[in-house]
Amino acid sequence: MTTKMILDCDTGIDDAMAIMYAALHPGIELVGVGAVWGNVDVPRATRNSLRVLELVGRDDVPVAQGAAGPLLGGHVEYAYHVHGGDGQGNAGDDAPVRPAAPTTAAQQIVELVRAHPGEVWLVPVGPLTNLAAALVLDPELPSLVAGVSVMGGAARCPGNVTPVAEANIFKDPEAAAAVFRAPWPIVMAGLDVTMGVVLTAEHRDRLARGGEAGRYLARIMQHYGEFYRDEVFGEWSCCMHDTLAVAAAAGALEVRLAPVVNVEVDTTRGPGRGQTVADLRGAYRGFPDQGGAHCTVLLDVDARIADEAVELIAAHGAAS
Ligand code: RIB
Ligand code: CA
Repeated sequence: MTTKMILDCDTGIDDAMAIMYAALHPGIELVGVGAVWGNVDVPRATRNSLRVLELVGRDDVPVAQGAAGPLLGGHVEYAYHVHGGDGQGNAGDDAPVRPAAPTTAAQQIVELVRAHPGEVWLVPVGPLTNLAAALVLDPELPSLVAGVSVMGGAARCPGNVTPVAEANIFKDPEAAAAVFRAPWPIVMAGLDVTMGVVLTAEHRDRLARGGEAGRYLARIMQHYGEFYRDEVFGEWSCCMHDTLAVAAAAGALEVRLAPVVNVEVDTTRGPGRGQTVADLRGAYRGFPDQGGAHCTVLLDVDARIADEAVELIAAHGAAS
């Protein structure tokens, strides 16, 4: 049994790794990729996604360009300081890429989900604008997907762009609120778990000894690790954020604690904007049923997923 998946990415560095992992994992059937604004502008996210798929020999996967900014308009802020001017650590290349699919990312979601009712996992790892747009196009989507695995939010840990908000949610809280409100099963792979799964210099060096995709990833990670060294951890290392949402959807992540609870996204204009307010009050009694809750919040996972992902990517195309 494989898991059909549509990844929706704002393709910077950790997104590139998530695409490689999803494209190469034997338990995943990657049926489509959507590009969204976020780390970089959306044409750049589209190009980066196409290039990364090419590196793993998956030119069969359609890439559709999506939203260029938040659902309701307004402020657009990228993260070039984190992901480099090209979104690939200033170490990407200019190799020609095939054209994007002749549709929008939201339309592609609707078409692929309708083609495989009940089977497809949506895995958004950037702002949730494309998913919210797909919900507007087809309000029946929640009953037609297998689930939604989001990289985003922070339930009981600090945010990474404000004291309480994580980047993917903060960039488009109105879209995120619509996605978290819709009655589909959601897995939230937020900073609670993604900050604890760290790629070290050893992982980078293992990738650098691998095939072409591994070497590319090792190269683009360099800049990302320097950002984390200077702004987060104090030594060269980085988080693999987006790959965790992919692995969770595919059942490839060992989950130790993940209560099903109500989660609401703060869309106010104050200091709480973009916060994922998860109702964890049941923590002291084993998280009793919250009747109607449909969001599984990952709170503790096995960090060995970092080794597994690195090994999978490094091995692709490597001389044996
Ligand atoms: O907060 C981390 C998330 O923001 C990751 O998805 C990263 O790629 C950026 O989109
Ligand atoms: Ca991302």
